[in-house]
Amino acid sequence: MTNIAIIGGTGLNSLKGLTITHRQMVNTPYGQPSSPLVFGEICGCSVVFLARHGSGHTIPPHQVNYRANLWALKEVEASNVIAVAAVGGIREDTQPGRIVIPDQIIDYTWSRESTYFEGHQDVRHIDFTYPYCESLREQLIAGARQAQLDPVTEGVYAATQGPRLETAAEIRRLANDGGAIVGMTGMPEAALARELELCYACCAVVSNKAAGIDGAIITMQEIEQNLKSGMDSVRALLEYALPRL
Ligand code: HPA
Repeated sequence: MTNIAIIGGTGLNSLKGLTITHRQMVNTPYGQPSSPLVFGEICGCSVVFLARHGSGHTIPPHQVNYRANLWALKEVEASNVIAVAAVGGIREDTQPGRIVIPDQIIDYTWSRESTYFEGHQDVRHIDFTYPYCESLREQLIAGARQAQLDPVTEGVYAATQGPRLETAAEIRRLANDGGAIVGMTGMPEAALARELELCYACCAVVSNKAAGIDGAIITMQEIEQNLKSGMDSVRALLEYALPRL
C-alpha cells in the first residue's frame, strides 16, 4: 500500500527508475482511468503511477477522464498526489526548462466534467481559496532545491482548454490576469482532488515560451526537446521529495 500517487503528463508516460510490482485497472463509477495504475518503488518509496494521457499518450487534455483518474487514486488509498505537467512559460522567470510549483489557478477550461457533486445529493461547495496542498507544495520545493533545480516557488497556473495552443492575444490576456504558466490539464484535476480531500500539488515543467512571448512561435520539436531534460529534472526532484512524504 502506498500513499503517494504521481500523475504523469506529456513527456512522463512512464516513470524511469520505477521498479514495477504490479499493474491494476480500476473501475470507477465514472468509467475507467486513463491507464492502469502502476504500483512500484522508486527512490526507496512505494508509489502508484498514472499516465494522464494514457500509456501511449493518446488522450487529449479535454478528453481525459479526470473524475475516473482521481477516483481511482482515492480508491487505492493514495493521499498525496503529485501532478506532473508540461506548461508554457508566460512570466519572465518561467523560461523553458524551469520547474514551477504553482500556488494558484485560473480556470479557462469549459465543458469538462468538473465535479463529483451532481445528481441527487446535497449540493456542496468546497473551499478552493488555495487550490494546492501547501504541505505537499513545500516538500516539492524542498526536494527541488535539494536537487539544485532552483524552482519557481509560486505562480498562477492558467488552465486552458486545448488541444490547440493559444494565440498571442490569449496569452497577453492570461498575462494581464496574472498567469505565470499555461497548461491544459490543471483543471478540473485540482478541484476534483480537493473534492476527494486528496493532498494535491503540481510540479510543472516549462516546455516552451507561451505563444507570442518574445515573439515565440511554438514547435513540437522544441517542446519535446525541453521536456526530455525537464523530465530528468522532475525525476531528480522526486528522488529528494518522495522520502520526505
Ligand atoms: N500552452 C498550453 N499548454 C501547454 C503549453 C502551452 O504553451 N506548453 C505545454 N503545454
